[in-house]
Amino acid sequence: MKNLTIKSILFVITLSCSLNQAHASDDNLYQALGGEPVINTITKELLDRILNNEKIAFLFEDTVRDELHEKIVSQICMETGGPCVYEGLDMIETHSGMDIKYSEFDVFVSDFIDAMEAAEVPYRLQNKVLAIFASMREDITYE
Ligand code: HEM
Repeated sequence: MKNLTIKSILFVITLSCSLNQAHASDDNLYQALGGEPVINTITKELLDRILNNEKIAFLFEDTVRDELHEKIVSQICMETGGPCVYEGLDMIETHSGMDIKYSEFDVFVSDFIDAMEAAEVPYRLQNKVLAIFASMREDITYE
């Protein structure tokens, strides 16, 4: 719990400090991360966590893991400046009707941080990735 609180604080700091700069300065983020192999590992680790996390797993009851994996890989790839085009639904369309709360979004982010740790992504790159995805919070949540 303490761990989660620290992560939430870090997340808010990251969000407020980096939001406006995230896209402008990160053309090389995809390369710095290690490209597709590392993004694949992050996504595998993320899905291992969110699909088994009792706080949010119920939302993924009908999810086909391989399909979601593929979409998240291509989204992370595109958002970090990689050579991919994300062709899934947009974030508002996908998540509308799920009534996702801020607290559930924070659980997802915490799992995302753990997934990047497991993939051995350096801390400063984790922050850059988080800043990009944090900017999607209002599209994904409903509160
Ligand atoms: C920045 C955070 C997030 C990103 C980047 C993200 C990304 C995505 C993507 C790419 C899809 C697939 C869209 C498609 O089918 O075309 C998706 C679906 C979904 N997301 Fe998210 N998501 C985020 C946060 C969340 C959170 C916080 C929850 C719930 C706690 C959530 C629950 C779901 C569910 C249930 C689906 C449907 C999966 C299915 O097709 O069965 N997402 N998300």
